[in-house]
Amino acid sequence: MNGIILYGTCYGSAKQYADELSRRSGLLSVSYEDAGDLSAYDRIVYIGSLYAGGVLGMAVTLGKLADWQSKQIVIATVGLADNENEENTQNIRKGMQRQLPAGMMEHAKLVHLRGGIDYSRLNMKHKVMMGLLYRKAKNLPPEKKTAEVRAMIDTYNQGVDFVDLSRVDELL
Ligand SMILES: Cc1cc2nc3c(=O)[nH]c(=O)nc-3n(C[C@H](O)[C@H](O)[C@H](O)COP(=O)(O)O)c2cc1C
Repeated sequence: MNGIILYGTCYGSAKQYADELSRRSGLLSVSYEDAGDLSAYDRIVYIGSLYAGGVLGMAVTLGKLADWQSKQIVIATVGLADNENEENTQNIRKGMQRQLPAGMMEHAKLVHLRGGIDYSRLNMKHKVMMGLLYRKAKNLPPEKKTAEVRAMIDTYNQGVDFVDLSRVDELL
């Protein structure tokens, strides 16, 4: 079975997972921007980082995939929030449902991984976005502070790295 690993990243966490999976599986790992024609692959692993609830590059890449019902598809998200938290996983999946063709999410194997953030490396747009989100999040009542919101508040303006390459085996 021939396959490919695609990743969508801004700062490298998703690429770290993709490259480790490539090392372990022997499959090629490529940025979604360089994906090209995917029709020849029977197996597609998409690893994309979460930005404001969206999985970077996923909709544009998997949305144009023809004949996906006959392919093995694995989709992994990479985000800051705790992926053991059921509410967080449900929120991520709700967002994915809106970004994927009908039925693809149920067809695919889904994995939720953790990334990291280093505020000193964020571009201006992301710094501004996180500043706005933080100010809004801080003032939320406790019951509205989801795992995602709490992770953002706890790590604001810091450098944290939750990448755990041992979880790559779940994608194989
Ligand atoms: C502007 C911005 C928005 C983000 N939105 C989310 C989000 O909605 N959910 C989440 O879990 N993490 C979110 N994050 C955290 C990133 O998903 C996390 O830093 C990830 O590791 C980045 O991956 P990358 O290094 O592959 O780009 C956001 C980060 C930034 C800078």
